Amino acid sequence: MDKPKVVLGVSGGIAAYKACELLRRLTESGHEVRVVPTASALHFVGAATWSALSGHPVSTEVWDDVHEVPHVRTGQHADLVVVAPATADMLAKAAHGLADDLLTNTLLTARCPVVFAPAMHTEMWEHPATRDNVATLRARGAVVIEPAVGRLTGVDTGKGRLPDPGEIFEVCRRVLARGVTVPDLRGRHVVISAGGTREPLDPVRFLGNRSSGKQGYALARTAAARGARVTLIAANSALPDPAGVDLVSVGTAVELREAVLRAAADADAVVMAAAVADFRPAAYAAGKIKKKDGQEPEPVTLVRNPDILAEISGDRVRSGQVIVGFAAETDDVLANGRAKLKRKGCDLLVVNEVGEHKTFGRDESEAVVLGADGSETPVAYGPKETLAETVWDLVAERLG
Ligand SMILES: Cc1cc2nc3c(=O)[nH]c(=O)nc-3n(C[C@H](O)[C@H](O)[C@H](O)COP(=O)(O)O)c2cc1C
Repeated sequence: MDKPKVVLGVSGGIAAYKACELLRRLTESGHEVRVVPTASALHFVGAATWSALSGHPVSTEVWDDVHEVPHVRTGQHADLVVVAPATADMLAKAAHGLADDLLTNTLLTARCPVVFAPAMHTEMWEHPATRDNVATLRARGAVVIEPAVGRLTGVDTGKGRLPDPGEIFEVCRRVLARGVTVPDLRGRHVVISAGGTREPLDPVRFLGNRSSGKQGYALARTAAARGARVTLIAANSALPDPAGVDLVSVGTAVELREAVLRAAADADAVVMAAAVADFRPAAYAAGKIKKKDGQEPEPVTLVRNPDILAEISGDRVRSGQVIVGFAAETDDVLANGRAKLKRKGCDLLVVNEVGEHKTFGRDESEAVVLGADGSETPVAYGPKETLAETVWDLVAERLG
């Protein structure tokens, strides 16, 4: 089989060097990559680097190898165009259809999915001109990854940083796998909870669970690649931040509830993949609980935590909002799942069997997605991102 053909556009931002890592990931995972830098990009990383790493000649303009008509062919032959970093200037040119170099010509002739990974100073990102350009590109079907928050050029910090190249690669991989030019979740805001809550007993101890956050993070990555604005509410996960996702870190079930209610106010879909503790210790000891000679420990009294899934399913803050729950069961998996779906009032419930060595912390899972309409969608054992894609298929159907 032919290798998938990727055009890696690089525009003139300080983060251009990070595109070398993205290029490596793409070539090492079996993609044929043509690098198309802008003239400004070559001020940051030279043509020799792009050419040697990609194994192809590199040109910035339409006047080289004219007999091959590169201004048309480069885009026509691509399965994916990814521009990383995308400067404010490049977003403006792409939004307005300018074609004054090879990359902008390629963007006009490509009929494949297009991903932009913008990187710039916060002021440039927040400028109404850039906001409008991003909105135009998204409305046309491009996936524009939200920049990360962090250190920018010089001493500044803020939103505008290029996300980790490994995470941009994940978005490219998912977009290529779907192969659609208009992502079905574009314009949608989705909220995902991930990880496992920790309920503190004292400053050093907590009641927790085995959830790693992998399923919730897979949901966040796949939703971002399908064009959604994603808020990921993560409870105690050590996983790398997915590209293009607004991350909110929480610790306890009560904190998770607050974050979910806040984000759900304008969400089209809420997917509760986090393992939320049903109970928390009734009392919190301000100092570390000590062993006392000759005395048995005090029993730990538990109180109920709020039932977030039932709450958001009962008080729908937006009509048409789709709510998805997860049920981790150890026995009578389907029967318990059906009962839970009814009790909670959500639209979809992903039921999977968990155990010490099953699902939690693994990269794979097996599940059945139950619908409030009586539907049952089995998802065979496989990567958690396959289950995530099925969840978004079912959500997208319900959003219409
Ligand atoms: C040191 C330096 C760093 C820059 N970093 C960025 C950046 O991160 N993002 C951006 O949009 N522009 C940045 N610029 C400005 C762009 O290079 C400039 O807008 C250029 O015209 C972009 O051209 P291009 O879009 O054709 O690559 C930077 C300029 C300099 C001198």
